[in-house]
Amino acid sequence: MNSQITAIGVYAPDQVITNDWFADKIETNNEWIISRTGIKQRRFAAADEYTSDMCIKAAKKLQAENPGTSFDDVDFIIVGTTSADQVMPNMASQIQNALNIQNTGCLDIMAACAGFVYGIILAKGLIAAGTHKKVLVFGAETLSKFTDFTDRTSCILFGDGAGVALVEAAEKSKIFSTINGTDGSHGKDLYLSQHASVVNGEEIVPNGKIHQNGKVVFKWAIQTITNKVGELLSKNAITLDDLDWIILHSANLRIIEAVAQELNVSMDKMLTSIELYGNTSSASIPLAWDLAAKSGKIKPGNKMLLLGFGGGLTYAGVIIEV
Ligand code: UT7
Repeated sequence: MNSQITAIGVYAPDQVITNDWFADKIETNNEWIISRTGIKQRRFAAADEYTSDMCIKAAKKLQAENPGTSFDDVDFIIVGTTSADQVMPNMASQIQNALNIQNTGCLDIMAACAGFVYGIILAKGLIAAGTHKKVLVFGAETLSKFTDFTDRTSCILFGDGAGVALVEAAEKSKIFSTINGTDGSHGKDLYLSQHASVVNGEEIVPNGKIHQNGKVVFKWAIQTITNKVGELLSKNAITLDDLDWIILHSANLRIIEAVAQELNVSMDKMLTSIELYGNTSSASIPLAWDLAAKSGKIKPGNKMLLLGFGGGLTYAGVIIEV
């Protein structure tokens, strides 16, 4: 069976955190943050607001903006997150309960900033197998609860937010060929450990905070993502000109600019969420999609390339039609 994304919804917490907010806490300034990352502000969840809360709000927003959408017959819920409220129960089960969905599979997946696209790939597979028909795929993070605010190289990057896509069985295929992969040897370059003090035989700090070797991840991202966009296009037998929009994970505006330059694509084609929301990991792609949709950029029939990448180091990409 073919599949398509029929609707999306997003939610970002109310609390806006400007770059100046960091200036009296660590040695940094607005100019450095904007010029090195593109980030102007980000949102932080309230103290009592968690990833599952934001997922539920994003799903309700999807329904409010797409009247008549019912979740009653949703038969699978997938949540891509690395900042779950707790390890067990999973986020998907809490969403099932809050939305009162009666007969559904519930699965959280951990693929860091690639989580949303991995979720779309899994939903496509479930529908193609003929076992499921209507899947909710979330990408949601409360990274502020796992941020080391003494580390100026990482704390200025992260923000909180949630997005959800409704993936449904369809007559015509609108989720095309996909790619995914990982270089696990880079485990130590981007990690969040609660318990283990070793990854790949190398020592790490198990303090429940995000640790990143920014320079290494930056270089890996530009090289890998440029190559993988090319691979995804050839797998789908289309060219860059056939695409209306490209949404790469909003990790750093300089990464997106460098990939655009390598591909010889105008930045006008690249949709981002980094400026207003910071790096929201698995939520960054739906947030960018929603911003562009609300501004009237995305039109029915448009083709978009979505590519997430991050901790693992892993990546996942897909080309869709909206
Ligand atoms: O989402 C998952 C994937 N993640 C990524 O793709 C992130 C990839 N990495 C990055 O985005 C960038 O590497 C960072 C934004 C994390 C860092 O930017 P950078 O241009 O690589 O900076 P840098 O680490 O090379 O640091 C340049 C300078 C250093 O000073 P010196 O050694 O040249 O004197 C840093 O100490 O900037 C300094 N610096 C800062 N200065 C002001 C580092 N952080 C800050 C700061 N404010 N917040």
